[in-house]
Amino acid sequence: MARRKISVCILLTALIQLCNCSIDSCPGPCSCFPLQTSGLIVNCSSRHLKDVPDLPEITVRLYLQNNLITSVTPGALDHLVGLQEVDMSGNPWSCDCQILYLKSWIESIPVQRNPRNLKCATPNTVSMKQLENLTGNDMSPCRRTWAIKCRKFFIRDLYLIGLTVLVLILMSYVVRMARKLACRIAVTTRTCHKKASSESYKSK
Ligand SMILES: *[C@@H]1O[C@H](CO)[C@@H](O)[C@H](O)[C@H]1NC(C)=O
Ligand SMILES: *[C@@H]1O[C@H](CO)[C@@H](O)[C@H](O)[C@H]1NC(C)=O
Repeated sequence: MARRKISVCILLTALIQLCNCSIDSCPGPCSCFPLQTSGLIVNCSSRHLKDVPDLPEITVRLYLQNNLITSVTPGALDHLVGLQEVDMSGNPWSCDCQILYLKSWIESIPVQRNPRNLKCATPNTVSMKQLENLTGNDMSPCRRTWAIKCRKFFIRDLYLIGLTVLVLILMSYVVRMARKLACRIAVTTRTCHKKASSESYKSK
């Protein structure tokens, strides 16, 4: 019995360790070095990467330069709370609407830890422009998609309001009908009662 408990315990700790490992492990194509204090240096530079790999949360320095990365999935860097230095230069960034996440993420990090030399490769209208120099004008197609989304929501809201009004009208109708019905029942029971009592009176 005791032995079984111990083996279950060992299994559980092994599982937990495995989970911890997968969270903090070095991404496959990169090389990692633990810092003396704590955290990892994650070097993924010059590895022909097309996407940002799954990065460990304890990353302190991140090197992603000179790859073929065009975009970052929104939210993919949010868990790197201990990051102190990052280099993402030398990638062919595609400066479409999705780049807004990277742009705002980069701008949230102090400049000295992050040389802001990310250049757009596509689309043609902004190629060779620096990410930080992108203006609202460059991003005008995004505004259009937002507008379309807005209109969609507006139409959906209109539908919802219409539906609510219809339901309210129906409910008031039902309530009125129910009240009428209740009234009628009350009247008939009262007359029934009267009839019954008069009949019983007669029979006496
Ligand atoms: C990162 O890896 C690349 C390629 O293996 C190497 O040339 C470079 O020196 C490394 N950088 C650091 C900071 O370790
Ligand atoms: C981006 O803007 C800065 C000033 O904010 C300017 O010094 C730099 O030359 C611009 N970069 C490009 C590529 O236009």
